[in-house]
Amino acid sequence: MGCLEGKTGLVTGVANDRSYAWFIAQSIIREGGTCLFTHLPGEKMERRVRKAVDALGVEEPWLRPMDASCDDSLDAAFDEIASGPGKIDFLVHSIAFADRDWLREGKFTATPREVFTQAMDISAWTYAAMANRAAPLMTDGGGMVSMSYYGAEKAVPGYNVMGVAKAALEATTRYLAMELGQQNIRVNSISGGPIRTMSSMAVGGFSQILDWVEQKAPLRRNVTGEDVGDSAAWLLSPHASGVTGQTIYVDCGYSSMGL
Ligand SMILES: NC(=O)c1ccc[n+]([C@@H]2O[C@H](COP(=O)([O-])OP(=O)(O)OC[C@H]3O[C@@H](n4cnc5c(N)ncnc54)[C@H](O)[C@@H]3O)[C@@H](O)[C@H]2O)c1
Repeated sequence: MGCLEGKTGLVTGVANDRSYAWFIAQSIIREGGTCLFTHLPGEKMERRVRKAVDALGVEEPWLRPMDASCDDSLDAAFDEIASGPGKIDFLVHSIAFADRDWLREGKFTATPREVFTQAMDISAWTYAAMANRAAPLMTDGGGMVSMSYYGAEKAVPGYNVMGVAKAALEATTRYLAMELGQQNIRVNSISGGPIRTMSSMAVGGFSQILDWVEQKAPLRRNVTGEDVGDSAAWLLSPHASGVTGQTIYVDCGYSSMGL
């Protein structure tokens, strides 16, 4: 029996079959869990996400539009969960956004206000916004996980404003854990190593980051989607029953190195 047998939850952030959210859903499903999915509004987005969800072998998936930057859209998606599946046991927040023009080496200092606030809004605040809507549906407690990156704590060339947003995301994780623990809801983040996805390719110098990690990480390789997916499934499962408020590194050990 899988460690998520009988559990249902929302997985946000599947864009295609290279998304971290896709790998997380794959591991959850293998462990017996049921995933509900969202896509950015629009027919093209829906088609793309539906294709990726099909590849997970999910028949008749629960798939609804949700733009996390819009309160009405967040409300509508969670209202539909409340009136449909009802109770949930887990939430996966695997979304982020920053204007790629400002994810270039040497461009952090001049980041415009609207670029900064949009990155913080979509990449950090939405974890709290989703948690606030998900918690009342988690009547038996549960788990939440979000995706961060090492650029939250060390300056990584090109990561820029996204690093600041990830630092906020990790702090948000701790504050959510503090408040939602009373409902036996555990809230964590994974600091995942770099993999090629639509979002990561927007970060200037991303290929060099991959090369560097491969040389320097203790495991002498980059992380895979499966590495992160399996760790997320573990964090959401009862096997991680005493873990909350944490940012767990799934990065082939890169963050443990001094040089
Ligand atoms: N790929 C990496 O190297 C890496 C490393 C560490 C952490 N992460 C994090 O993993 C998460 C997933 O990114 P990914 O790399 O899988 O890329 P991805 O492009 O596959 O996924 C990003 C998702 O964010 C969604 N999104 C953006 N704005 C949104 C909005 N307003 N409302 C709803 N959804 C929105 C996109 O639709 C997409 O599904 C992000 O938080 C990212 O920062 C990625």
